[in-house]
Amino acid sequence: MVDLDEMVRILDGLDDLPTLPTIYVEISKQIRDPKVSVSEVARVIEMDQAITSKILRLVNSSFFGFSRQVTSIRQAVVLLGFSTVQNTVLSVSVFESFATNNVKGFNLKEFWKHSIGCGLLCTTLDKKMNVGYQDETFVAGLLHDIGKIILDHHFEKEFEEALTYAKTNGVSPYEGERVVIGSSHDEIGEYLAEKWKLPYALVEAVALHHHPGNIRGNPKLVSLVHLSDCLAHRLGCGYSDNYVLPEFDPHALEELDLNEEMIPDLIEEMKQVFDDNLELFKLID
Ligand SMILES: [Fe+2]
Ligand SMILES: [Fe+2]
Repeated sequence: MVDLDEMVRILDGLDDLPTLPTIYVEISKQIRDPKVSVSEVARVIEMDQAITSKILRLVNSSFFGFSRQVTSIRQAVVLLGFSTVQNTVLSVSVFESFATNNVKGFNLKEFWKHSIGCGLLCTTLDKKMNVGYQDETFVAGLLHDIGKIILDHHFEKEFEEALTYAKTNGVSPYEGERVVIGSSHDEIGEYLAEKWKLPYALVEAVALHHHPGNIRGNPKLVSLVHLSDCLAHRLGCGYSDNYVLPEFDPHALEELDLNEEMIPDLIEEMKQVFDDNLELFKLID
């Protein structure tokens, strides 16, 4: 069992923590320059064929819903704008960066399915309820559980034990981590997101998705991610063997002007959203 301070010390001592995809780092650097051109950004993306084809697939999917076919990255950059392109690059490149896993009880495919589902829900709910985040919502949902990647890569034995504990004792994997490891994927994810120097809104969404009541700066984004996580579990999106469903946090519901009675309708509506966006889940194939 380690507490958070101890965990931070362990993480500080690891010299092979996962790094952000280089292409994302490069694009982020580029768009900080106010004089950067569309062609320059497009050129960096086009150097990576896998990313290029995934972005084009995504941009042409019903998720973005453009009425005409987008055939080039240049065109995609113009239509999306730099900031959305930056987040989209991060979204499609993480699958490649973290494509293998170690822990038997941790199904990476299900993990990414759940993560994509959360990104989709987060973006859809943001639009539906006019919350107004736009750019960050997909990637916030996508990355919310990223701490599990560190558990899988660096705490194999403990993570396996935590998952077994959860299964045996009928608690959530999150509870299993708290009991067995003493620290959990939200805290570890926060560490990683900070290390990666992701925008603070994203760090917070990762850090607080299980405890949205502890909000610091972006209560609505944290609440959206929490809600999306809970809904994704109810919709069976990823982790099919997830025994205990996370509870909707009253702070998050209040923040988004929702109440428990509205949840069943929301679930029905989001089921349809999943059906309409099946191609999004093919990003991991
Ligand atoms: Fe989580
Ligand atoms: Fe989750």
